[in-house]
Amino acid sequence: MLDVQSIRKNFPIFNRGKNPFVYLDSASTSQKPQSVIDAVSTYYNSYAANIHRALYTIGEKATDKYEGVRKKVKIFLNVPDTHTVIFTGSTTESLNLIAYAWGQKNLNADSEILLSEMEHHSNIVPWQLVAEKTQSSLQFIPLTDDGTLDLEPNDSLYSKRTKLISVCHQSNVFGTVNPIDSVIATAKEWGAISVIDGAQAVPHMKVDIAKLDCDFYAFSGHKMLGPTGVGVLIGRTDLLEEMDPFMGGGEMIDKVTLEKSTWNKVPWKFEAGTPNIAQVIGLGAALDYIQSVGIDKIHNHDVDLLNYGLDILSQNKDITLFGNTQNRGAVIPFNVKNIHPHDLAKFLDTDGICIRAGHHCAQPIMNHLGVTATARVSFYLYNTKSDIDVLAESIEKTARIFA
Ligand SMILES: Cc1ncc(COP(=O)(O)O)c(C=O)c1O
Repeated sequence: MLDVQSIRKNFPIFNRGKNPFVYLDSASTSQKPQSVIDAVSTYYNSYAANIHRALYTIGEKATDKYEGVRKKVKIFLNVPDTHTVIFTGSTTESLNLIAYAWGQKNLNADSEILLSEMEHHSNIVPWQLVAEKTQSSLQFIPLTDDGTLDLEPNDSLYSKRTKLISVCHQSNVFGTVNPIDSVIATAKEWGAISVIDGAQAVPHMKVDIAKLDCDFYAFSGHKMLGPTGVGVLIGRTDLLEEMDPFMGGGEMIDKVTLEKSTWNKVPWKFEAGTPNIAQVIGLGAALDYIQSVGIDKIHNHDVDLLNYGLDILSQNKDITLFGNTQNRGAVIPFNVKNIHPHDLAKFLDTDGICIRAGHHCAQPIMNHLGVTATARVSFYLYNTKSDIDVLAESIEKTARIFA
């Protein structure tokens, strides 16, 4: 059991005296504990300096702190080699990095890229861009009505032409936790590389990169109590070494002449220019915080809230719940009869409740469901069952206004 009231004391946003404040949009971005805010401001207040180049004490301290976070990520996710942890700006940037630096070099008119219909736009659009450039084609693992991937053997989907399979670990719309072990095994079987979008998974469940043995894994800091502006890409050493750089500039080089340049070692080959130093240090504090609470405890708390939320919301006959998968994270998409989700979100906001409404950067899922938008609530370690009670009451009140 989590001591949620103590946890909430660590998050300044829950202690502003504005009541009620019910934050149910952590799948979009999470709130930040004081320790993360302090880690960022301490960098700016007391050792703000560039890394990997300053030869003075605060520069060395900043470098040590930044590189120390790479080791924290390695430990947190059981990554075999620290040097395969690359800091980016976000999951979006991580996926673009693979599409650009691996895709442009390895895909051609004979290649197929296999995605799923469940993906966030950031795991669709980069592949559309690279497919256009390389003349390769896109295929999609279909979605069933309960919000799971249809992974039945399908001759038209998998072939020797399949060069890359990229799917999300957990859906940002349905919360579905995909059987990525079997996706990774299928990729190996066909000689394709596997890419896992872990943006929704890493904040909420134990992820073991060594055990998964995928080729690439991406996630964002801001959905797991860290600052915005920091993401991570973990890749297989040999692939990262073969890949061309994503961006050129300072620090990613070994030697530069006016004619040509050679590259720094992995991971720095992929971290051109001054990186997001404060944000990476903030991510380190977020990892410390999550570890101090315990990722398994957070996961169990999420599941508890999910079950409670499903139970409460399903009692309202005006609510349509989307998806119905067994293995699922703490995300509930739904609509309320005769109320556009945008209106619902605006009305709930007047009661201090923050929910997401829209297409959730997943328009293909909306097309599959035959809607243009849904409402969505998502839970994290600082949420309580009473947040869900307040939500249910406010939905009923809004429904009465619209009736
Ligand atoms: C499943 C999934 N993938 C990728 C992303 C993109 O993350 P970011 O906006 O941090 O790049 C999100 C964000 O909501 C997501 O939910």
